Amino acid sequence: MALSLNNKFLEAYVSEQEINNISKNVYDAFNTLNSRTGEGSNFLGWIDLPVKYDREEFSRIKKAAEEIQRSCDIFVVIGIGGSYLGARAAIEFIKSPVYNNLPNKKTPDIYFAGNSISPSALSDLLKICEGKDICINVVSKSGTTTEPAVAFRVFRALLENKYGKEGAKERIFATTDKEKGTLKKFSDDNGYETFVVPDDVGGRFSVLTAVGLLPIAVAGIDIDKIMKGAQDARIDYSLPDISKNDCLKYAAIRNILLNKGKNVEILASYEPAAQMLCEWWKQLFGESEGKDNKGIYPSSVIFSTDLHSLGQFIQDGSRIMFETVLDIKKANDELLIPNDPLNIDKLNFLAGKDLDFVNHTAMLGTLFAHSDGNVPNIVLELGDRSEYSFGYLIYFFELACAVSGYILGVNPFNQPGVESYKKNMFALLGKEGYEELKNELESRMK
Ligand code: PA5
Repeated sequence: MALSLNNKFLEAYVSEQEINNISKNVYDAFNTLNSRTGEGSNFLGWIDLPVKYDREEFSRIKKAAEEIQRSCDIFVVIGIGGSYLGARAAIEFIKSPVYNNLPNKKTPDIYFAGNSISPSALSDLLKICEGKDICINVVSKSGTTTEPAVAFRVFRALLENKYGKEGAKERIFATTDKEKGTLKKFSDDNGYETFVVPDDVGGRFSVLTAVGLLPIAVAGIDIDKIMKGAQDARIDYSLPDISKNDCLKYAAIRNILLNKGKNVEILASYEPAAQMLCEWWKQLFGESEGKDNKGIYPSSVIFSTDLHSLGQFIQDGSRIMFETVLDIKKANDELLIPNDPLNIDKLNFLAGKDLDFVNHTAMLGTLFAHSDGNVPNIVLELGDRSEYSFGYLIYFFELACAVSGYILGVNPFNQPGVESYKKNMFALLGKEGYEELKNELESRMK
């Protein structure tokens, strides 16, 4: 298997007996999911997505990616939340966090827009785009989300000014709802090529649809291999047997720890390329579980970087958290530490050692230290940063999240809380229909 759960640093906190005790709840949750009888059951398209996807669209994604690679220097992906995090996570994890700066790269630079309301973020990107050939992919299931809609207005105007309406339409790709949404209609009316966010796949579960796959393919990543990883994970995690199914075991352990007052889960990786993967994971678990006053707060760290900032708190602060350590067994690169005849830092005992060996030793040392500091540690061992491993890991987390949510007793597939800020923002901005709320908020500000 591409991934395995190591519970060596958990034994003092979660016993086999406790795992056995919760197993009935886990199987019930797993069964509810697979029989599609739980809350949110109309959003389960992701379960079979690795095998049941639109082959014709998959080929079109590859073709469009080649066209985009041929025709632009910069590819701008416009989307927020589930409509951008997965693609960005994949590109950074599989390629590099400095993908845009890699030498001899034959694929376009890729930037992400429409994921904030910051004028500076958008202005900086517009400056970067000056004098460059650009293609854009607007990704929005609803088509009406404020952040990407504003960025799309700006980039559409830029493209139409630069290439004319006809030229622009060859450079605008829309990923949206199949038929209902306003963006679909607008795209069809304007002749943009469109891709589908399936009705039964929610944003945070959509990385293996065109939402993630088009930008990922533009980066020159083999999307067949990603799908193969997810396909194998789907088979490997199909057995309702906690002793053989690490995905169910992870869901079980999280809930046992929550019941012991561990309200915060920190996803820790020793690989900076996993930073955006952590962001994707935070959205997945945060939006899926954090509701009805329940849930584990998902947080993340990149070590050893954050050992010099949050490390103190994790070692020694209030005991509210557990860690899930993503241990990537094989680094993409080998880098040997040079000898220094002056040995000014007294580190010559490391000369000739691979930096990844030191990184893994730091991990082991930290696991011992955090365990001694009463932080339970789940270790997820992943083979490498390949396309295959990425697809496998994505499926592992999606399935674990859904099962975990059902164990917790929430609907893992809705996100009612996301609407609250939007309503207030629209009211304060003076949108029609929100007058009453505007008055109420303004009186609360006095
Ligand atoms: O997971 C989700 O559903 C959300 O994060 C959405 O992806 C996000 O709000 C963007 O929505 P949309 O794709 O409709 O613009």
